[in-house]
Amino acid sequence: MWARPEAVWGLFSVAERDLGVLGDVRDLDVLELACGTAYFSAWLARAGASVVAVDLSGDQLATARRMQRRRGPVFPLVQADAERVPLAAGRFDLVVSEHGAAAWCDPARWLPEAARLLRPGGRLVFLTNSHLSALCVPAGEGVAEERLVRGQREAYRVQWDGGGIEFHPSHGDWVRLLRRAGFVVDAMHELYAPPDGGDHPFYEIVSAAWAARWPAEELWVATRG
Ligand SMILES: C[S@@+](CC[C@H](N)C(=O)[O-])C[C@H]1O[C@@H](n2cnc3c(N)ncnc32)[C@H](O)[C@@H]1O
Repeated sequence: MWARPEAVWGLFSVAERDLGVLGDVRDLDVLELACGTAYFSAWLARAGASVVAVDLSGDQLATARRMQRRRGPVFPLVQADAERVPLAAGRFDLVVSEHGAAAWCDPARWLPEAARLLRPGGRLVFLTNSHLSALCVPAGEGVAEERLVRGQREAYRVQWDGGGIEFHPSHGDWVRLLRRAGFVVDAMHELYAPPDGGDHPFYEIVSAAWAARWPAEELWVATRG
């Protein structure tokens, strides 16, 4: 992912060039929450943004640091909880999170934190699993089925049989949570797999055939009021 020349979104690599969600990021102050190996930050830094990337995991950040040395560019990496980021308020024009905070952090905590970190008029862009896919993936792991396996309200906080908790609020919940945190919702893009695409090489949560029929991921865009 660090080697990719430009930004793509999600399991099936929808080009940012086609979606146009981020726009021109040159000279923007950008924060990535739950950055993992920080490849998304690398893409934005190469496009001219001034980036800071945050993750809870020292191991993920060690990989990010190794990739910075190997491929560049270098930007600050901060080990912290996305629900409590040790950075000054109102410092960023754009907060992004790609399969990060939205699934792993409590939305009642990380959305207000994202709002605190943004300047008025700043944007929040996050990618997460679709609410529909969360309704179709059995708790004992596995791949999204073509039937609903849990109730809509149960998906808000999913406890997987193998351990781990994920948050998959409904669309109504997201709108309410975003508004409560001071955001105005601008868009929600539903991402599909291309009709002729293959399965993802290691993320097995949805098959390409499933994701060609139903959106596997949601890309939310909101502005801080
Ligand atoms: C799917 S991964 C990262 C996504 C990233 N785009 C990537 O693929 O490398 C999710 C990340 O969320 C991080 N994470 C989980 N809970 C977190 C929290 N409370 N605060 C910050 N990061 C968290 C994990 O350490 C992990 O790196």
